[in-house]
Amino acid sequence: MKSNSNTDSKIQRRQFTKWVSLSSLSLALPISFTSCNFENSQKIDTTTELSDLKNVFDLEKLSSKVMGEDALLYLNGGADDLKTVKINSDAYQKIQIRARRLIDVRNISTNVDLFGQNLDNPIVLSPVGFQGFFHPDGEIATAKASVAKKHQMIVSSVSNSSVTEIANQSQAKLWFQLYPTPDRKITKLLLDRAEKAGCKVCVLTVDTPVVGNRERSGTTLMKLVQTGKLKMGNFEGILPDGMGFSDPGMTWDMIDWLKSNCDMKIVVKGIVTKEDAALARARGVDGIIVSNHGGRQLESNRATIDCLPEIVAEIKNGIPVLIDGGIRRGTDIFKALALGATAVCIGRPFCWGLGALGQQGVEMVLDILKAELIRDMQLAGTTSIEKISRNHVLKN
Ligand code: FNR
Repeated sequence: MKSNSNTDSKIQRRQFTKWVSLSSLSLALPISFTSCNFENSQKIDTTTELSDLKNVFDLEKLSSKVMGEDALLYLNGGADDLKTVKINSDAYQKIQIRARRLIDVRNISTNVDLFGQNLDNPIVLSPVGFQGFFHPDGEIATAKASVAKKHQMIVSSVSNSSVTEIANQSQAKLWFQLYPTPDRKITKLLLDRAEKAGCKVCVLTVDTPVVGNRERSGTTLMKLVQTGKLKMGNFEGILPDGMGFSDPGMTWDMIDWLKSNCDMKIVVKGIVTKEDAALARARGVDGIIVSNHGGRQLESNRATIDCLPEIVAEIKNGIPVLIDGGIRRGTDIFKALALGATAVCIGRPFCWGLGALGQQGVEMVLDILKAELIRDMQLAGTTSIEKISRNHVLKN
């Protein structure tokens, strides 16, 4: 294991670079992220733009004007031909809402109880790595926005700021997403740090034994890490030569190992079948996130919202089932909740806000989605999250 010296950090960055290029995780900008974000943001009249930002797609458009080309490729990219990225969103259009009438909808509650916490709303921020690539304030800005707007944030293992820095600077009650290395000593260090930073939930990502085939990758992220302009947050100083962030040898035994090596609730992220939902539950996990990594791993042509019903049926209210992938509207959130999700997670949308306007942009995205959800609940005649039922949607 490495000490935290400058030399060692350089070596680790080189190793990271090697791993990134081998795994094709390298996805990004031909120009320095700071100059790119700030030069361009000066070119746009943000006052005019702000008044036009009505939905998350407007933030997406703004991010495409502000962010550099390679950062956009990293953020918006996916596996193979991006069919799973697209179908994740498209599948929501095939579900119809059955609205109920003449219900008093003056007071709406969006609260949900999840893993021993009472959350203000069911819209959680998915773990997204390398947020410093989208905006210099990176995860700190996202965490501050999540606190200001009362949303739960999941910090990625590959965040640029460490989970400790993020917690200290934002006062957020974070959940920690885990990519285990093949060396459990390193994983244990990460878990200890996350627990020390106050994390009560560990989200184990299980869809990344290797990195997906992302063909449109640049070299800028790699260079930023190599030159130390972007830090590796949690892995800084502890990653041995040549080791990557995924463990192709990981099996279900990992759940037992996690349970005996930390006190956090264990949630598995990346489940897409009822068979694996059953195995996860049998191992005693505390929750499941139905996810295909936003279409960045296996090009499966199966939307997560199409995976959700078989998993909910298998779990039968036993443990919380969350979902992410393609959620862009309040109606998408409503449909996922009606089909049995306890809460939803969003990835790219908050990053569009971050890339476009930093913390303010993330806050705008969160405001927009929550306002849409509340309005949709009112229009459908549902006054609380638990009142959104299977009868409120039609799905073939
Ligand atoms: C991700 N995702 C992800 N997942 C994870 O478990 N750990 C990670 O570090 C990352 N990093 C990451 C980077 C980027 C740029 C994206 C877009 C996504 C996947 C993420 O948590 C989530 O599953 C998807 O983003 C959800 O899909 P939408 O909302 O982006 O469509």
